[in-house]
Amino acid sequence: MSSVLKNIKNIKTPHLEVKGGRPLSGYLEVGGAKNSALVLLAASLLTQETIEISNVPKLTDIDVMTEILQKIGVKISKNVHKINLRAQYIQNVDLPYELVHSLRASFFCIGPLLSRVGKAKVPLPGGCEIGARPLDEHIKGLKALGAKIFIEGGIVNAYISNKSNRLKGTKIIFKYPSVGATETVLMAACLAKGKTKIINAAKEPEIKDLTNMLNTMGAKIKGAGTSEITIEGVDSLKGCSYSVMPDRIEAGTFLIAAAITRSNLLIGPVIIDHLTSLLKKLKESGCKILKEGCFIRLIAKDIKGVDITTGPYPAFPTDLQAPFMALMTTANGTSTIKETVFENRMQHISQLKKLGARIILTKNSAHIQGVNQLDGSILEGSDLRSSAAIILASLAAKGKSTIYGLNHLDRGYENLEQKFNNAGSHIIRKNQTIFGKDLKFNQSGAEDNQNIEPKAA
Ligand code: UD1
Repeated sequence: MSSVLKNIKNIKTPHLEVKGGRPLSGYLEVGGAKNSALVLLAASLLTQETIEISNVPKLTDIDVMTEILQKIGVKISKNVHKINLRAQYIQNVDLPYELVHSLRASFFCIGPLLSRVGKAKVPLPGGCEIGARPLDEHIKGLKALGAKIFIEGGIVNAYISNKSNRLKGTKIIFKYPSVGATETVLMAACLAKGKTKIINAAKEPEIKDLTNMLNTMGAKIKGAGTSEITIEGVDSLKGCSYSVMPDRIEAGTFLIAAAITRSNLLIGPVIIDHLTSLLKKLKESGCKILKEGCFIRLIAKDIKGVDITTGPYPAFPTDLQAPFMALMTTANGTSTIKETVFENRMQHISQLKKLGARIILTKNSAHIQGVNQLDGSILEGSDLRSSAAIILASLAAKGKSTIYGLNHLDRGYENLEQKFNNAGSHIIRKNQTIFGKDLKFNQSGAEDNQNIEPKAA
């Protein structure tokens, strides 16, 4: 028993119960892209006019981002998947620590705030614990545009000190094609004076989605989707309506779910080009893939082991590394999965092993020997994508799995269990309370809780 648990009176531990080992059928609906939506929300700070964003997924990360924007002074109204934002008056450039520390994407506010009002104070953010995740490239880019920046007491203080209170276009060369840093510089540079060139820019589809919205607002950006982006600064931007692109990572998770449960599933809507590297690997592993307009049908029978190496787009996405590893644990033969983007993104291995997976980790490479059968277990997700991976493995595993750590899952997947259940899975979400004193659950049908050590948070 965990010592933390002993000292806590009672802990609410929402969890999923998955009865696995059955194939899925039918359709899995893909929502709007979380990573796009987060940056598009921040981009609303760039104009006094109303921005209407549709196809926004309902996620806790989106709730935190809108709460942060409200604290800055943005008027926000929400209607299911549509959010209206009006940043007519920015009252506060000091972002609230208690919200920022849980969401790395909150750092996106720094670029728009600087270029719109000439100053910003942003606490160093948090997010998934998948590596050091420094912000040096973001800061280097903003400094190159003329911002003065100092970090004090964990707060990044940024301001413009020239008379025109305006950033100045320049050439920025990234040492690594960071998605976030490219987005930060894009948003800062579109209201700067003169031309900015980003060399070694990230090419991820989310960059193109952001650029499309900024250009609809009146920005002049060319080259998004390539490694060289040019931004001609404009004096102001206007409001617009914009629909978030489909989430390629949710779509990828669903394709892998179809493969791991050896199912025949229709998945969409998707932009098929965004999934090229994953589809190539799924085909190589033996899946049949049929493209039906903006939908993909995946039919899986026997899966064989294939190797992957993650990398910046268009290479295999790091966000699908954990789900793909879950698939490989059930494959015929061996596979090697190498993670090159984040240095600490293999935490799912210990959980997959609890289900019976055979994996050996050497530095940043996982060597997997597929097994004939996974068996249900008690599991805990440690970050967003590892949570998805263990749910997929649980869908394939024989018997019951209990999955904790849903705070991670709910950051990035909307109604995941409901979507899977519509396709024939058997997943129940339970809100259970463990009483620290006697460690008994407050529900009938008490569980064996010997292996449960939930985090105190
Ligand atoms: C974004 C995505 C995340 C995805 C990642 C890579 C969002 C909200 N999140 O994260 O889901 O896994 O892209 O596709 O869009 N780096 C630096 N210095 C910096 C910035 C990054 O060294 O200033 C390093 C990071 O530590 C990491 C690598 O660059 O090793 C990639 O990070 P980056 O592309 O910036 O990812 P994020 O924007 O944080």
